[in-house]
Amino acid sequence: MSGTNQDTVSLEKIVSLCKRRGFVYPTAEIYGGLNGVYDFGPIGTILKNNIKKIWLKNIQSFEEEVILLDGSILGPQNVWKASGHTEHFSDQMVDCQNCKKRFRVDEIKLEKPCPSCGIKKWTEARQFQLMFETNVGAVSDKSSIAYLRPETAQSIFINFKNVLSSTRVKIPFGIAQIGKAFRNEVTPKQFLFRIREFEQMELEFFCKEKNSDKYFEEWIQRRKNFYLKIGLNPKKIKFREHEKDELAHYSKRCMDIEYNFPFGFKELEGIAYRTNYDLIQHSKISGKDLSVFDPNTNESFIPHVIESSSGVERIFLTLLFDSYNEDIIEGEQRISLKLNPKLAPINAAILPLTKKLSEQTIKIYTNLKNKNFKVQFDESGSIGKRYRRQDEIGTPVCFTYDFDSLKDQKVTARNRDTLEQKRISIDQLENYLTDLLDK
Ligand code: GAP
Repeated sequence: MSGTNQDTVSLEKIVSLCKRRGFVYPTAEIYGGLNGVYDFGPIGTILKNNIKKIWLKNIQSFEEEVILLDGSILGPQNVWKASGHTEHFSDQMVDCQNCKKRFRVDEIKLEKPCPSCGIKKWTEARQFQLMFETNVGAVSDKSSIAYLRPETAQSIFINFKNVLSSTRVKIPFGIAQIGKAFRNEVTPKQFLFRIREFEQMELEFFCKEKNSDKYFEEWIQRRKNFYLKIGLNPKKIKFREHEKDELAHYSKRCMDIEYNFPFGFKELEGIAYRTNYDLIQHSKISGKDLSVFDPNTNESFIPHVIESSSGVERIFLTLLFDSYNEDIIEGEQRISLKLNPKLAPINAAILPLTKKLSEQTIKIYTNLKNKNFKVQFDESGSIGKRYRRQDEIGTPVCFTYDFDSLKDQKVTARNRDTLEQKRISIDQLENYLTDLLDK
């Protein structure tokens, strides 16, 4: 559901809204924060969970089976040696010797002065390892080194054989996972866009090599439909296939789905044809056979993989930008998030017109809460102010209990987007919300 005032949205406005309304807080803010790391507040936590739920439902809605995995965050060195991350997963960076700021070489022009202090005094370019390293156990030496995973995908590849033998799934099938990933990004930036601790939603889809092109195209379409379904403005989405020289070390083809942020078109998700690179690599380094036997052809083969990889926080940020709206209501500026009701953190607000009506209103609130709707009760401040608070967190409807409600057992339902107000019987509220969330 795209906003109408797209040109008015800026990163600063989104950051401020997130803090004000409990979407996102800087981590350890009372200690000065930690660069590139964020905490999610009460409203942000629900939005994040809604994104994960809708992704999972979507990824499992197709004819081929998609099963789940929840792998560990810590992994031994060999996993990352095999996957190629130890060798390839790094950025070239330079430091400004004057102001000490660090930049990625691909993001600045080295022939020009430092964009921060205006002096041209660069260090030599150096490789910067993006994986976070730690030591596991009491002894801290080379043998105890472990890494925090920089992508969730490898948990899937190293468990491939376990999953096959414990579930009896047949190729083609997918293994999906939602979990934390960590990257020591040289330059975390644009709020949640590039951070150091984030959640990925990844699907590794295993198929025969001869079907890989077909499934690559298929998953591009499926993922495109997903973004349209959750309500992103189609005019702001575009596809960009990677040039040969920008492909990650493991992929043969990669299609980025990009979104037009105020800071330009940027990657929202990558769909990659990873070939059978990862399984072959893990087979080589671990010495374990990771092939699949096909009883129809009597042949063993190592499956090829199509991957869909997206970041929860990146979709979160995209939804905020895409749904942000400003308008003037009764001479006052209003900010609203025109979120798809399925994603909106709060389904409905239940408001007494005055505190004198709180007792009756709380009963409605408790009833809906016990029916598993995400509802909020709010009795403080003018009704206008309470509407504004709900608009800012994207609540699609507010139910107001007034003095007429005492007589007709109806409340006024006020729509976030149209501002239309209509009377609804209290005993119909459950149906009303079910319909709203089903659309
Ligand atoms: N397994 C493939 C992979 O990890 P990627 O393009 O590096 O590919 C996939 O990452 C997605 O993860 C990105 O499209 C983005 O949504 C998210 N992502 C990656 N790095 C991120 C970061 N530093 N902060 C937030 N999200 C990130």
